[in-house]
Formats: sequence, structure tokens, C-alpha cells
Amino acid sequence: MRQAQHSRMWRQRARRGVHHALEAGLGHTFWGSLVSDLLIALAVASVAAGAAWSVPEVRASYGPWIRALDVVTALIFAAEYGLRLWSCVELPFFAQGAPWRERLRYASQPMQVVDLLSFVPTFVGLVAGIDMWAAMMLRFLKVARYSPALHSLGRVIAAERGALFGALVIMTGLVMFAATVMYFIERHAQPVAFGSIPAAAWWSVVTLATIGYGDAVPVTPLGKAFAGLMIIAGIAAFALPFGIIATGFGREATRRDFMVSWLLVARVPLFGGLDAAAVSQIITLLRSRTFEAGDVIVRRGTPGDSMFFLVSGDVVVETETGEVTLKEGDFFGEMALLEHRPRSSTVMAATRVRALVLDREDLERLARRHPAIMARIREVAASRRQTTRTNPV
Ligand code: CMP
Repeated sequence: MRQAQHSRMWRQRARRGVHHALEAGLGHTFWGSLVSDLLIALAVASVAAGAAWSVPEVRASYGPWIRALDVVTALIFAAEYGLRLWSCVELPFFAQGAPWRERLRYASQPMQVVDLLSFVPTFVGLVAGIDMWAAMMLRFLKVARYSPALHSLGRVIAAERGALFGALVIMTGLVMFAATVMYFIERHAQPVAFGSIPAAAWWSVVTLATIGYGDAVPVTPLGKAFAGLMIIAGIAAFALPFGIIATGFGREATRRDFMVSWLLVARVPLFGGLDAAAVSQIITLLRSRTFEAGDVIVRRGTPGDSMFFLVSGDVVVETETGEVTLKEGDFFGEMALLEHRPRSSTVMAATRVRALVLDREDLERLARRHPAIMARIREVAASRRQTTRTNPV
């Protein structure tokens, strides 16, 4: 009986260790960084090897080495996939139902599909005797999985979709306008390149995008003058989406110290019951910050503009009645926001701390979208106020 308990405890401890090492960027742990760096290096090497395989001379000389790299990488990625699946129940989002069902739910997440694609084609190729070298190129997706920049880009595109759609409408309108006018000007002079509006649209896209292949060019004086106007209009209109994305990207980079990912949010039990859509919404409200041991995060008596969710590390709250330690998953700094008062206590990092920061306006937004979470924050704040009897500063 005791032995069974013992082995269960060890299994749980091992699972937690694996979970921490595999979920990249979580606690800045040595093993976590090492594992993610190794996986990225393997994915990059695979993509390079896949590209090299398509060169007949390289294939002839180094074919067996590339094959071996492909198979070894597939084995490592398969092991990683298995371990991720085994340890995913450590994530609060996947710790609620029967483990097998939670693992199935985890496996259906887009990131896990990317992981699956990084090794299954190689094994299918081996079993069926088909050359699946092109699947090595799919491993680029695995690099993207670890790239904060790509996550940010995705968020910017999602956030700016309205403006981007507007730019697309303007660009399409301009392409059709230029093609129609050029068709009327050039159709008799050049019946092949400009004989129909769809044919002229090729010239129009190439010109407005300022690519200018030169395969279709106007020959009439009027056509040339109109083309000149369209080139200038193209620079203005086609620069729009780049401007929108670049501004959003810059804003995103300055707003965040580093990426807030789904996995970081998952470390806060308060967000545990949310579905994937709600989590992606919450991610947009949070930013992440790191504090070193001894840093004062919140000082008593100062105005409070944000609250903090502890993702890793411990903090000490110096209340009037003594010190209280808060750990991973706890939150603090909510009282000043809820009660519109200065900070009630000083909060200091006891270890290296990683926290998710939620600003006052974003807390209001969260309250509107998720009243249950807000109710829980209020409840904790009220009980803290009662137990510490902290006097208003
Ligand atoms: P706030 O007053 O904004 O800033 C200091 C924070 O310390 C406070 O919000 C609470 O989040 C936290 N705090 C105050 N008293 C306690 C307590 N007794 N236990 C835990 N945390 C507390």
C-alpha cells in the first residue's frame, strides 16, 4: 500500500519535472531552456537538410546522412510528443476531467498537431517505403511554435483585422480601376496583354505592387501617363497594410516585456476553468514581467495602477500584522484597484519572480467579460482586508 503511494508520488513528481522542462519559457529553468534550444536546433537542421536534399548533387553525396538526421529527429520529436501528452495533465486547463479525455483534448490543440506533423510523415514514409523528405520542411512550423515574434504577429493581425480588411478593399478597388482604365486605353494596341480586364489586371497588380516585371507595359502615350499615376497610387495604397502591421508590431513589442503565452496563463488557477477562446482573449490583456529577488514590486502608500498574477517564484507581503508569502498561482495588488485606495502593503520578490500584469482598464474589461473571475478576485480581496485589518493608508 505504502509502496503504491510512494510510486504514485514519484510518478507525479517526474511528470511535473517533465512538464516544467518541456513547456518552453515557463520558469526560465536551465533544463527548460536547454530542451527548447535543442528542439529548435533540430528543427532548423531538419529544414536545412530538407532543402539540401532537393539538390541532386548533395543528395548523391550526403543522402544517407540526411536520411539518418531525419529519422533521429523524428524519434526525438516523437518522444517529446509522448512526454508532452503524458505531462499535459499538469496544466490546470487539462486537469479537470478523466486524464485520457484531457489528453485527447490537449492533442487536438493546433500546437500539438504541429508536433505530430513533425514526425509522423517520416515514419509513414519508412513503413510505406515512400520518400517523404518534403515533410522535413514542415518542421519549420516547430520553429514557429517557439517564436514569440510569430505569436505577436498573429495577435497583431487578429487585432488589426478591421484596418487590414479596409486596406484590402482599397487595394482591390484600385487594381480593378487601373485594369479597367488600361483595358480601354491599350486594348487595340496590345490585344494580348490588355485584351480583357482580367488580362489587364495582371499588369495592374504588378504595377501597383511596384514589382514591375516588365512583361506587360503600356505603349500608347496616354497609357504611359496613366501608368505613371498608378505607380504613385500603388506606393500609397499597397504600403497601407505594411504600415498597419508594423505599427501594431511595434506597439506590441513595447507593451510586453516578453510574450504572454497560453501556458503562462494556464499557471494561474483563477483562469483554470476558461475555454481556449476565453484564454486567448485574456492573453491580450496581460503583459509579463520579471522581478529579481529583493525587488519591491508594490510599495505601501503609493497609487496602484495594476495587479499581478504570480506565474513563478514567491513574494512576501508585509502587512501590518506580519509577513504573508504568496506563491505560484496567487495574485496581489488587487485591493488598490478595487477599493480605489493607495497600496495597503509593500510586496517584495522573495525569489526571482515572473508575473503577469493586468492594468486597471484591463481589469475593468476582464470584469465585463468574465464576471465569475472578478467575483473571485473581490472575494479574496475582502478576506485579505478582514484578516490583516490593514488600516487605510
Ligand atoms: P494592494 O493594496 O493593491 O497592494 C498590496 C497588496 O498586498 C494588496 O493589494 C493585496 O493584494 C496584498 N495583500 C494585502 N494583505 C494581504 C494578506 N493578508 N494576504 C495576502 N495578500 C495581501
